[in-house]
Amino acid sequence: MPNHAIRDIVQRMPKAELHIHIEGSLEPELIFELARRNGVALAYPSVQALRAAYAFTDLQSFLDIYYAGASVLLTEQDFYDMTAAYLARAHADNVLHAEIFFDPQTHTDRGVPFETVINGIWRACQEGPISATLIMCFLRHLSEEDAMATLEQALPFLDKIIGVGLDSSERGHPPEKFARVFARCRELGLHLVAHAGEEGPPAYIETALDVLQVERIDHGVRCLEDPALVARLAREQVALTVCPLSNVKLRVFGEMNQHNLIALLDAGLAATVNSDDPAYFGGYMNANFLAVCDALPLTAGQARRLAANSFQASFLAPAAKQAFLEQVDQFFTALPGHAEALT
Ligand code: ADE
Ligand code: ZN
Repeated sequence: MPNHAIRDIVQRMPKAELHIHIEGSLEPELIFELARRNGVALAYPSVQALRAAYAFTDLQSFLDIYYAGASVLLTEQDFYDMTAAYLARAHADNVLHAEIFFDPQTHTDRGVPFETVINGIWRACQEGPISATLIMCFLRHLSEEDAMATLEQALPFLDKIIGVGLDSSERGHPPEKFARVFARCRELGLHLVAHAGEEGPPAYIETALDVLQVERIDHGVRCLEDPALVARLAREQVALTVCPLSNVKLRVFGEMNQHNLIALLDAGLAATVNSDDPAYFGGYMNANFLAVCDALPLTAGQARRLAANSFQASFLAPAAKQAFLEQVDQFFTALPGHAEALT
């Protein structure tokens, strides 16, 4: 299949996004607008100068700028505006459903009330134009006590959260550091996910599964270093929320043509494609799919698998999940010559 045909398919196909940090969707233009609106001083003189600083060498070099960017978010309207902008961009990329991460500690540590954060993000999600739910992430460079206190603050808002996750600096902060807070979240009936195997070793993927009992692994690309773990992830069909542009920008892979997405699919893993922090890494969902198409031999059959995996791995109720999966089937069966294209 010619490259333009697969590019067309991945852009138009219905898809879900399962790995998007809403603070990572804050575009430099909006950072400057919010800084002006709120009287916050920025360390960069212009949008261009800020964008020029987006030359990351690893996860930590990105996180330092990402937390600085989030410092302009002060009011409920700020969180609403950021979220509404993301939802519009996702809609334009034919994302039908998004499960959105937010990092309350990044804001509550600056004195922004928890309710300001969640009410702004939630209100935008209620207004569409796509289906969207929220996953609250704990910052793993902070203590488990801090995470537990954040969970305490979240208790009055549990109807607005479908699950919890674990993000920020991975190395030196293994999943088991958060065993008790995840056990408490499990008792509360929340879904569980965690970043693991992005920069950290495959052992972190194992403890995320065994100790935290997560249902999905965010990133997980380093699993291929451990064949026994790959066999397990395939057998249990544990979804991996892979973020191709992020992995290249943060130097997990040197170039996109070295990315292991196709190898993950070939190993029978439930991989999905996601944008992670699209304002910082070069684009939203379709930019990620296009970068993959241009560097790797992605087939239409694999594109269909990725689209189906994204809904299959979601935390949607069974009927809604089934309806979205049918939309994926309809899209692919309506393609001209689809039987030949998908073999
Ligand atoms: N927070 C935002 N993006 C992240 C990433 N890619 N890894 C860990 N924490 C993050
Ligand atoms: Zn992430």
